[in-house]
Amino acid sequence: MTVAKRIDGKAKAAELAESITRETAALLDEHGIKPGLAVVIVGEDPASQVYVRNKKRTAETCGFHSVQHTLAADTAQADVLRLIDELNNNDAIHGILVQLPLPGHLDEQAVTQAVTPSKDVDGFHFINIGKLTAGRTADAFVPCTPAGCMLMIADEIGGDLSGKNAVVIGRSNIVGKPMASLLLQANATVTVTHSRTRDLAQVVAGADIVVAAVGRPDMVKADWVKPGAIVIDVGINRVEKTVDGETKMGLTGDVDYDDVCTVAGAVTPVPGGVGPMTISMLMANTLRSARLAAGLEA
Ligand code: GUN
Repeated sequence: MTVAKRIDGKAKAAELAESITRETAALLDEHGIKPGLAVVIVGEDPASQVYVRNKKRTAETCGFHSVQHTLAADTAQADVLRLIDELNNNDAIHGILVQLPLPGHLDEQAVTQAVTPSKDVDGFHFINIGKLTAGRTADAFVPCTPAGCMLMIADEIGGDLSGKNAVVIGRSNIVGKPMASLLLQANATVTVTHSRTRDLAQVVAGADIVVAAVGRPDMVKADWVKPGAIVIDVGINRVEKTVDGETKMGLTGDVDYDDVCTVAGAVTPVPGGVGPMTISMLMANTLRSARLAAGLEA
């Protein structure tokens, strides 16, 4: 028995991309500026290659100047930093994204902090993290995945989360922590849970909004979820799936979708939920960066 609404992230992301495409055309027409996005990938992680390909394709669809730098897995740190420096100084580039994870010999922090804050469309630079944490989201680049989650939540219950309990499962720098900041800024009462949290199911049971970002397939079950809650599934887990007796690799989230749909008010599917929204938010951040670089309003 399904009671929950399926939140269609794919459709919402496509709508967003269409409006970005229109604004990009107008920016070129009126000001001669084309947003430029550079994506850097080091090594051959298959999942990262898929993400990067999708980002590049969407950037092209939106009418951006889109470049990809594919570096060998054994590229030296100094060479990665040199490339970032070039991109920082290239006026045709408004957004720089270094796909994570990086190969083990590279210092992820040194690389993400080398991207100039004004082109940091991932929102990973400490300047942008600081602005977000201080509630200065109007002039920060907000990480794309949490930003996309917030749009989906706002679509369901509005932008003011006063009186709502939100539980974030996972405390990563990419999702959990920025997600908590955004929910707090929207007036939610926020609990961040993680691997050391006791009685997780009980904590989640008090939530009007659940955001799961832990990387554990189908972890969140119906009996954890408050009736009517909004459940946002950030997990992308590769698992074996058996369909019609045939076993294949497939994607599944951190939420047991069919189970949770019997209780929740609205749930995002995987695939087709948060993933496409993340990519559209990256385009939104790049367009915004291009506008700011031209002295226009964000
Ligand atoms: N790897 C997984 N998620 C992300 C993301 O949002 N940005 C980057 N750069 N790498 C990632």
